[in-house]
Amino acid sequence: MEQRLVSPETLAAQGLGEADPASGGLTPVINLSTNYEQQPDGSHRQGRVYTRADNPTSEQAERLLAALEGGGCACALFGSGMAAATAVFQSLLPGDHVLVSRVLYWGVRKWLAEFALTWGLDVEFTDTTDPDAVVAAIRPGRTRLLWTETPANPMWEITDLASVCELAHAAGVRVAVDNTVATPVLTRPFEHGADLVVHSATKYLNGHGDVLAGAVLTARPDPFWERIRSWRRNAGAMPGPFEAWLLQRGMRTLFLRVQRASQTALAIATHFHGHPALTGVLYPGLPDHPGHQIAARQMTGGFGGMLSIRVTGGAAHAHAVLREVQVFKRATSLGGVESLIEHRRSSEGPSSPVPDDLLRLSVGIEAPVDLITDLETALDTASRRPAPVPPGPGASREAVR
Ligand SMILES: Cc1ncc(COP(=O)(O)O)c(C=O)c1O
Repeated sequence: MEQRLVSPETLAAQGLGEADPASGGLTPVINLSTNYEQQPDGSHRQGRVYTRADNPTSEQAERLLAALEGGGCACALFGSGMAAATAVFQSLLPGDHVLVSRVLYWGVRKWLAEFALTWGLDVEFTDTTDPDAVVAAIRPGRTRLLWTETPANPMWEITDLASVCELAHAAGVRVAVDNTVATPVLTRPFEHGADLVVHSATKYLNGHGDVLAGAVLTARPDPFWERIRSWRRNAGAMPGPFEAWLLQRGMRTLFLRVQRASQTALAIATHFHGHPALTGVLYPGLPDHPGHQIAARQMTGGFGGMLSIRVTGGAAHAHAVLREVQVFKRATSLGGVESLIEHRRSSEGPSSPVPDDLLRLSVGIEAPVDLITDLETALDTASRRPAPVPPGPGASREAVR
């Protein structure tokens, strides 16, 4: 029969349009088996032996995510976004030179700072929003990977993927893009030349704050991809089948959630732009954001659900605002249905480079007016009742988030 499921939205909503082959159920089953029966001749009916290597429930979620990222790519799920990210770095070889964007998710930076050296990697942070900086940093014959995140945590800097991929490829450098924040709804890095795409599936892909998972996707199966898959199998970095099942269910509503969060984030950013209680609103959808032109070209249908605000009066006021919110939930993480707010520097710990006056917002799917009113009221109340800076339980601890 003619194949009519073409749009990514339709593929997501219908879970690739596949019914369970055994029951005909439109909702897939969870396959919890850790092992698979061996035939008398030593073979396995579907080639699967043990679930640390292969699991049908994981494969279902992998096929769906691969379809959304497009380009005929392949996907491997991991037990967390960090397990996915580190699998890429750990598949490199000692002595490899790696370029990493200067602004990026704290956990990746922290892992690189603590473990990359002992792994033998030569890691260099560079400004991937500046093509000249990328060219200057590439060491021909030694640089093996360029890692970037766009929009990048928590300043939401934008890297021009097409231009960075072209420059990197000219020097034989592979490009990996952390697409957690944009999701394939807004940016499909393979279409801009990326070689690898990485996700914390804990965030928008699952979207309900109840799954820890990650994913690596490749534009083409090559020996490096085989190393990443081998790392997952042999290091035991697979997610559990229940997590994979929840993830495929979350992805069914990915488009609705991301589109709604993007619309509301734009409304919030526009409303608070120029607000007297703020020194800045960082959001790529605002025309005065330095990456706006590139984002408008590279991101389709919105600028994402993440933004940051910088509060007049510094850390004391930022903490005071945090105390006053009622609709926004004070919590770390991002990409869920409920809106979150956090003092990012406290979450990251003492060595965080994030400004002390910055609050990071993850916008959910609530009524936009409730979120705007909540933040407006919190800013107003806090400006009338400034508070001393509380150290906060997270401030002295090193980050895990
Ligand atoms: C952009 C980005 N990449 C990777 C990660 C790590 O993901 P996980 O917490 O699932 O290990 C996070 C987590 O916050 C993130 O925001």
